[in-house]
Amino acid sequence: MRRMVLAALFATLAFSGSAIAQNFPSRAVTIIVPFSAGGPSDAMARILAERMKTTLGEQVLVENVTGAGGSVGVGRAVRSAPDGYTVSFGHLGTHVANGAIYKLGYDLVTDLEPVALLPSNPMIIVSKNAVPAKSLKEFIAWLKTQPSPPTAGTAGAGSGSHIAGLYFENVAGVKLQYVPYRGTGPAMNDLVAGQIDMIVDQTSNSIGQVRAGNIRAYAITDSKRVESASDIPTVDEAGLPGFHMTLWSGLWVPKGTPKDVVAKLNAAAVDALNDSAVRKQLENLGLQMPPKDKLAPEALGTWQKAEIAKWWPMIKAANVKVD
Ligand code: MLT
Repeated sequence: MRRMVLAALFATLAFSGSAIAQNFPSRAVTIIVPFSAGGPSDAMARILAERMKTTLGEQVLVENVTGAGGSVGVGRAVRSAPDGYTVSFGHLGTHVANGAIYKLGYDLVTDLEPVALLPSNPMIIVSKNAVPAKSLKEFIAWLKTQPSPPTAGTAGAGSGSHIAGLYFENVAGVKLQYVPYRGTGPAMNDLVAGQIDMIVDQTSNSIGQVRAGNIRAYAITDSKRVESASDIPTVDEAGLPGFHMTLWSGLWVPKGTPKDVVAKLNAAAVDALNDSAVRKQLENLGLQMPPKDKLAPEALGTWQKAEIAKWWPMIKAANVKVD
């Protein structure tokens, strides 16, 4: 009798899971962006969400939930129902670095299911226009001669711009004072206004202001130039060889989300990445599409684990203190 009850229970659970998946989505899907509006994460999420609506046949909303280097927003997504209606947007900072800095209350690998690897971009070293440097070497010399540590905007401890700043301090032999914002959108506003000295920013966030002449760019943290910003030298060309950092992004859902639901969200993301108008928008921001053989959900999971193994030792060695 007990075996029959258990069998019936498992059958019901299995059926309800597949029933959820079969009807998914039957209402709006929300993508939680863990940084403020107007920044690079927000921009990419909104471009993709607009096209994901077509495949999913329901609204795809973007909600900005900010704070603590993105971990507040990721935590919100982790604790949401595993039904596919809440998706976590994140990147190297939020889904790798945060785990080496914060006591998160969730596990970046076991409490999340990977959905899709998204575009990536190198970082770009930019300063306010008032800095009298015409090259990366002159900029580093300027940084070293300031009476107090120059200010570097970030999206908070453990954000991509913060990790990039730590890496830059290491390789350039400079000391920075970090100024945390709820995203590099507001940080950029202050850089343009000359309120802070620099950002090691996502290229996609700075490229527009560089083109407009509102900030100064020194180098791209890659071995090859960005096609849509081919006038900006690489760090190898500019005298800081090997300072390579690519900030990749991705989508996750809470652990326990039905596989068929994950597959539908993955298909919507892949359709968006294959859409020529979407690709043009993203590539114009200096973003590079993920390799075609890295588009399955499992590929993001494998990539994230490898990045944790790569970055955690450096981040932990930096002994970052979070208040
Ligand atoms: C970061 O620095 O982690 C991101 O660029 C922040 C953002 O997307 O606003």
